[in-house]
Amino acid sequence: MNEAITILAIESSCDETSAAVLQNRSVLSNLIAGQEIHASYGGVVPELASREHQKNIVPVVDMAIKKAGILKSDIDAIAYTSGPGLMGSLLVGTSFAKGLSIGLGIPLIEVHHMKAHVLAHFIEDEAQSEVPNFPFLCLTVSGGHTQIVKVTSPSDFEVLGETRDDAAGEAFDKVAKILGLPYPGGPLIDKHAQLGNPNRFTFPKASIEGFDMSFSGLKTAVLYFLRDALAENPQFIEENLNDVCASVQRNIVESLLSKLAKAADEHQINHLALAGGVSANSELRESFSMLCEQSNRKAFIPKFEYCTDNAAMIGIAGYFKYLDASFSSLNELPKARLSL
Ligand code: KG4
Ligand code: ZN
Repeated sequence: MNEAITILAIESSCDETSAAVLQNRSVLSNLIAGQEIHASYGGVVPELASREHQKNIVPVVDMAIKKAGILKSDIDAIAYTSGPGLMGSLLVGTSFAKGLSIGLGIPLIEVHHMKAHVLAHFIEDEAQSEVPNFPFLCLTVSGGHTQIVKVTSPSDFEVLGETRDDAAGEAFDKVAKILGLPYPGGPLIDKHAQLGNPNRFTFPKASIEGFDMSFSGLKTAVLYFLRDALAENPQFIEENLNDVCASVQRNIVESLLSKLAKAADEHQINHLALAGGVSANSELRESFSMLCEQSNRKAFIPKFEYCTDNAAMIGIAGYFKYLDASFSSLNELPKARLSL
């Protein structure tokens, strides 16, 4: 196939409205409109998210096409997130994608959000020319999912282990909320942790056989720990915020990486990858790279802007499906829950 394939991609599964244009594996534009509106609620309010998507989707798609320097008639297919995610949010992106596909007379490609996080590693990047070799292991850590996935091809994924309760990002966000930080708290914990002592406080880690994980106990442990500490010193959080953040972050990062290392050993896989919003975490990135270096494995971390939710990753997943002529019918419905 000599001709470049141009894909318009749309992501609207949670609280980011994003549109991107890709030509084969390279990104011509990738625009993201965030939703500040949720910060004061301590989490994403689904109804508000849908309304924000409805407001943003036309200008974001329009700008992505303009910024890419293409015409609508250049687009070969439209890729969109069909799930998992918030139903109201997914419906906005799905309906828009369907309408545009009818209008332009081009095929639709539905994309699984979590597969797209993994496939973000195949976006062409000048800084990292190498891509993971199949099979590789991907630790996908987001606000809704935490999985260790064995990836055998762009369409062949096997979940080796996952969280039994809260996702890692959810653990970051819930602890941040307990500490009085706004949503999403993950990046703020990361920021404070860089100034704190990770060995100051010890919180329990779940002990589960195999590669599954659990993070809900951590949130409860932090809640009780702070309740007791605040009873003795009402200024405890202000005075110890950096150390609490560093200690919680160390706990989460160690739990994630010990399971990944175990899975890599048992499956004898040497190419390891990180994906999902939490892979923006500075300690996770650093410790992951160190783990790979020490065990003679190759580490793959997506560029920062392709870690958190973005449409470029939907575009690369769409590109692989385009090569397989795996198109979707207009009758497909978005799915809030969707296994890998
Ligand atoms: O993949 P993503 O953008 O959305 C979902 O599909 O969930 O992930 C969002 C999650 C949130 O929980 C957010 O707090 C977390 O990723 N996150 C971080 C960092 N940046 C984003 N967690 C820890 N440290 C960060 N730097
Ligand atoms: Zn995501």
